[in-house]
Amino acid sequence: MWTKKAEKLFGLIGYPTGHSMSPTMHNEQFRVKELPYYYHAFNVHPDHLKEAVDGMKALGVSGFNVTVPHKVAVMDYLDKIDEEAEIIGAVNTVVNENGQWVGYNTDGRGYVDSLKRVIGDQLKESDILVVGAGGASRAVVTALALYGVASITITNRTVAKAEEIRRMLPENYHINVLNKTDAESQTSTYDVIVNTTSVGMYPHVNETPWVSEGLKRGCLCSDLIYNPLQTRWLEEAAANGANTINGVGMFVGQGALAFQKWTGIEPDTDRMTEVVVEELG
Ligand code: ATR
Repeated sequence: MWTKKAEKLFGLIGYPTGHSMSPTMHNEQFRVKELPYYYHAFNVHPDHLKEAVDGMKALGVSGFNVTVPHKVAVMDYLDKIDEEAEIIGAVNTVVNENGQWVGYNTDGRGYVDSLKRVIGDQLKESDILVVGAGGASRAVVTALALYGVASITITNRTVAKAEEIRRMLPENYHINVLNKTDAESQTSTYDVIVNTTSVGMYPHVNETPWVSEGLKRGCLCSDLIYNPLQTRWLEEAAANGANTINGVGMFVGQGALAFQKWTGIEPDTDRMTEVVVEELG
């Protein structure tokens, strides 16, 4: 941790924030890049969200991340919202731009970047199945649609929520919505399958959100969960020959984009990943 005078302050607001890996991840990057900055996690009760956001501006804070439960509510207290964050309907990164709070969502694009680090330009030609239709799915589907992939199919226990995500995107982004039975019968056609649900998350580590058999050859299975690091679904898919990417990918991806917006500097994502895995370990 920096003990010298920090020239810029960054932070995280959430409730709770005790288990967040963001302070360690960002402070380590400030050290690696020799930036005299500091990142602190602020536990902000929902009743005090407006005061916290206004107060940070008054104090000259340079930017902050937003986590559960403030990602939607914080939008009311910002000066400007980026277009992608507007479509997603949630903000996870705020930047002080000439005294104005500007809200972005780096979750989705951070996720796209993590996939690109694994399969590169192949992502553009990929048919993608997104399992789940909650907040994380919104971010992932929006970013994949804006990036431009071959096709996106959403499946969810509650099909109406998948329909809602399709509706929220501009009409020129064509999204397929399938119920679980129909999507499962087409499992062998997808190049990438991403689990955005909480199925398989600690403590329900034996549950799996999707099948791991009958996958397309070379399929990339991606889980947003990072507790446990390797979910049962990823383990089974890997045993059946699939490539896998765990939830650290998206976490690092969103953090890397936030870091870049705040500092103008490209962070070392390999080191960010190491730090997060160490912390989880
Ligand atoms: P997040 O913001 O992390 O995406 P969320 O908005 O609560 O969380 O969304 C949770 C997702 O996990 C939803 O797609 C949910 O399905 P429903 O929309 O049908 O509720 C899915 N999910 C949670 N538990 C599930 C379970 N046991 N089986 C299938 N899907 C589940």
